Amino acid sequence: MDLSTLRKTAREELKGYCRVCPVCDGRACAGEAPGMGGMGTGSAFKVNVEALSRVRLAMRTLHSVKEADTSLTLFGRALSMPILAAPLTGVVYNMGGRLTEAEFIRRMIDGAAAAGTIGCCGDGADPAMFDSGLAAISARDGHGIPFVKPRGQAAVLALLARAAETGAAAVGMDVDGAGLAVMALKGQPVSPKSPEELKACSQATPLPFIVKGIMTPDEAEIAFAAGAAAIVVSNHGGRVLDHTPGAAEVLPAIARAVKGRGVILVDGGVRSGADVLKYLALGADAVLVGRPLVVGAFGGGAEGVAFLLEKMRAELKAAMLLTGTASVGRVSPSILS
Ligand SMILES: Cc1cc2nc3c(=O)[nH]c(=O)nc-3n(C[C@H](O)[C@H](O)[C@H](O)COP(=O)(O)O)c2cc1C
Repeated sequence: MDLSTLRKTAREELKGYCRVCPVCDGRACAGEAPGMGGMGTGSAFKVNVEALSRVRLAMRTLHSVKEADTSLTLFGRALSMPILAAPLTGVVYNMGGRLTEAEFIRRMIDGAAAAGTIGCCGDGADPAMFDSGLAAISARDGHGIPFVKPRGQAAVLALLARAAETGAAAVGMDVDGAGLAVMALKGQPVSPKSPEELKACSQATPLPFIVKGIMTPDEAEIAFAAGAAAIVVSNHGGRVLDHTPGAAEVLPAIARAVKGRGVILVDGGVRSGADVLKYLALGADAVLVGRPLVVGAFGGGAEGVAFLLEKMRAELKAAMLLTGTASVGRVSPSILS
């Protein structure tokens, strides 16, 4: 597997829905949602990348850290790296439809597992989205994390129960999907969740419960008070509300408010191992990667996904050595410049 062949194949297979740009920064695809872009002006996607690029690493090489350990345990699973495959759905209207939903998510879940980490799957108006994700996770003995949309309570509880049957590592809800008009148009309305409703969801599942789409410290508090095991600080890759800040801008205050209450995940704009280290230094325990892995899945299948994850892990390891960071559990804010 080599990067240029992978990217060339992906560019053909994605049929222009994703241009496979040198840096995936949301500029070429601004406004393309459906598609791979950020909604509206595309600003909420672009600012994820910009905010992360403004964070600088302090280089230090006069120390005794000669090996960097990228492994960690998350939701009881030993992982090779603090990098998860983000939930992504809508292969037909977002990615051009060259793959089926089932084939795409199988590549993501299998590719993440092959790299020693874990993949997530999502939910959408077409039942094939959630069903295919669960099938891919079941085929991996539960090594994956499904995310349900904030549907009506009865519908959510039914999907949470099905997720638990797969033996998944955890289950989540992308609460920021609360405004998706396409769900209502297809007769499956979504809406914001009250703290009481969120608590009922987290109590209904035996799995660790993850709340994805937190952008403020007060909502992080609400999520953990409702019994969440983890939050994902995320603006959904800029696809649900234009003009939000970047995840790197809001993460430090959120981490200060809820550090120690549970797992803090983050996503948006992670393009390299150095980006991963920046998010860890800003207060995250691990990150999710979205769009770059679509390129991996279309350009090289499960192997392509694993290849890109391994590449990021190698970059993370190098960045850890050059900042004097021995392990991902011990990332000091002092590595930021
Ligand atoms: C095409 C596409 C589909 C997505 N589908 C879902 C989904 O079904 N559920 C979900 O929680 N997030 C979904 N997301 C958001 C991602 O999980 C993630 O938050 C975002 O892509 C991270 O930003 P990045 O792509 O810059 O890495 C989707 C994002 C994209 C680009």
